[in-house]
Amino acid sequence: MEARRLTGSLGAEIEGLYLETITDHEFKQLDDALMEHQVVFLRDQHLTADGHRALAARFGTPAVFPLARHFGGSEVLGMIEDTPTNGPDADYWHTDITWIDAPPKIAILAALDIPPYGGDTLWVDLYGAYDGLSPAMRSIVDALRVRHTQGERFWAAFGKATGVERLDELRTAFPGAEHPLVRAHPVTGRKALFVAGGFMASVIGMDPEESAWLLQHVQHRVDDSKLQVRWRWRVGDVAIWDERCTNHRALGDHFPQHRLMRRCTVEGDVPV
Ligand code: SIN
Repeated sequence: MEARRLTGSLGAEIEGLYLETITDHEFKQLDDALMEHQVVFLRDQHLTADGHRALAARFGTPAVFPLARHFGGSEVLGMIEDTPTNGPDADYWHTDITWIDAPPKIAILAALDIPPYGGDTLWVDLYGAYDGLSPAMRSIVDALRVRHTQGERFWAAFGKATGVERLDELRTAFPGAEHPLVRAHPVTGRKALFVAGGFMASVIGMDPEESAWLLQHVQHRVDDSKLQVRWRWRVGDVAIWDERCTNHRALGDHFPQHRLMRRCTVEGDVPV
């Protein structure tokens, strides 16, 4: 297996591995590369649905999307399909599902249909986002906790699909979560600025004006292009990323073309 770095901060393309039949030894190499590079990309994999579930299970317990689980769902794979009538809606920086106590740790995304142009995905390095803060700002953010909620945009989109009655039930069942603004990665030990875009509602203990200013300031760190990697998809590609030290963003510039992705996440720990 060979891991070829893609930028000075994060991301590597892995060659010499076939995920569908990965051995224990190869998986260890893949996992090591993921811990080092935060997101890894593999071309020409054409991972099957069973292979996708099996790969996720090597990292831990594959996660059912919490709202689906609430209604009795058990499927760990999810489809992201963009069409002319259902356009892209992940074109904003985020880490997945930070509005629960233990957000996912790993995500695996497989490209099933990719338009001729547009629809790339970006990832950003949250270790670098933390390291780039001044020592004075680091000492402030080190001590802070942030309330994460789904946000009105999320509920509006979900409400359309489920109806208001169920929406009220879900809002009650998933009231949000509190996380440290800086988290220590359980494997690497490195500190990451645990920002999550629109899921961050407020800084605990601050008044609304201070909180809004601080959240905007720290979230703005992910706009530094030196901390980003961008992947131009081909059908058959797989991306695997560490949710604990990255944000990602799926560009919506392919609309109204068709784009189809299959994804799976792996259950994570409570951030510390
Ligand atoms: C997402 O996981 O937010 C979407 C990623 C993508 O479709 O590229």
